[in-house]
Amino acid sequence: MTAAAGDRATADPEALRARALEALTAARTRTGLLTGCVEDGELVAQHSPLMSPLVWDLAHIGNQEEQWLWREVAGREALRPEIDPLYDAFAHPRADRPSLPLLSPAEARAYAADVRTRVLDVLAGTRMGGRPLLDAGFAFGMIAQHEQQHDETMLITHQLRKGPAALTAPPPPVHPSGPLPAEVLVPGGPFTMGTSDEPWALDNERPAHTRAVPAFHIDTVPVTNGAFLAFMADGGYTERRWWRPEGWAQIREHGIVAPLFWRQEAGRWLRRRFGETEPVPEDEPVVHVSWYEADAYARWAGRRLPTEAEWEKAARHDPVTGRSRRYPWGDADPGADRANLGQRHLRPARAGSYPAGASPLGVRQLIGDVWEWTASDFTAYPGFRAFPYKEYSEVFFGSDHKVLRGGSFAVDAVACRGTFRNWDYPVRRQIFAGFRTARSAELD
Ligand code: AVJ
Ligand code: FE
Repeated sequence: MTAAAGDRATADPEALRARALEALTAARTRTGLLTGCVEDGELVAQHSPLMSPLVWDLAHIGNQEEQWLWREVAGREALRPEIDPLYDAFAHPRADRPSLPLLSPAEARAYAADVRTRVLDVLAGTRMGGRPLLDAGFAFGMIAQHEQQHDETMLITHQLRKGPAALTAPPPPVHPSGPLPAEVLVPGGPFTMGTSDEPWALDNERPAHTRAVPAFHIDTVPVTNGAFLAFMADGGYTERRWWRPEGWAQIREHGIVAPLFWRQEAGRWLRRRFGETEPVPEDEPVVHVSWYEADAYARWAGRRLPTEAEWEKAARHDPVTGRSRRYPWGDADPGADRANLGQRHLRPARAGSYPAGASPLGVRQLIGDVWEWTASDFTAYPGFRAFPYKEYSEVFFGSDHKVLRGGSFAVDAVACRGTFRNWDYPVRRQIFAGFRTARSAELD
């Protein structure tokens, strides 16, 4: 283990408290930006039946923090037990949330702030260890990740919202890059998948285990808008043979002919992005496609989606040492030069960017930019144990959800690592998801 990961595992309580404080504070700053940039009326509105009103996310963030850090860690009484059912994600589907007697924007802000004040007090006096929930400050890390995950969810709501831009950000950096090989060969053999020693890794990333992965080729960069346009121009959406039956049914039923947020004008494809309409940039990774669209594209290209194990091996396996890294570039935390994360930019970077974030074999942009659909269902690793609650991961295991890897421009580094697993229904298009393709090497 190198310095960064080693430091994490052995950090003293003072350093762990500082790290927890920093993660919680960064999340709250982001939440403040996402909920402070629109009028209160827009916080209670439902911008899409697919999403909660932003004010629901805000109070849910506070409620989750209260439940785990105030009640569970500190052992204190519930502050407002009567609101728990309103903010239980399993009790009410998103479409129904606007009609609930939710806290008003002012009440939700005051509630989340009150919880946070109490939690910072708890943090200052907590031993970072002594019980599994507190080992290496896990509960604080889990709650910071939870808030950042909802910050990504809220950014999705902003993208769905009609009207002029409420959020702006500078474009991603341009990294001049020579021509890259289209694909990279990942040699066959076992590698270590998942983790047992990443302190804030969530239950579904655990435990570390050995996986045999035969040799395969994987795209050096995510599939671009330009490549996706070639699929469209070649009848991608009109030829049934590229599609899984459920995907074909979806595009027929809803008249889908392009990624979400795209429209054609005078023969040119435009996209709406956070309130602005702009020409589709051909050199950027495609985003807002369903798993079915990704799968159809891959079949059209004579390829397939990588399995989750292939993706992780491409991202973490160091063929020289044989060990799995925390990130493609090594064990150091992501920095602005390695990956497009954290809503610093409100779009993916041009394909081929971030040479400093490449894997040992030269695969780029595995972390950040766009979530990448994989071929795999969301299932438990051998030896999985739900922790600290079944409703984070376990209730979602099975064939309903496909795994996404690598994080998007909208996810914070605290909730993104080489082992991090996201999941969603294969029909989902509003998430910041793209993909890359692969092929088995034995077909060479
Ligand atoms: C891991 C992104 C699928 O948003 O449904 C938030 C994260 N879990 N609150 C989701 C989550 C509970 C989850 N995803
Ligand atoms: Fe949640």
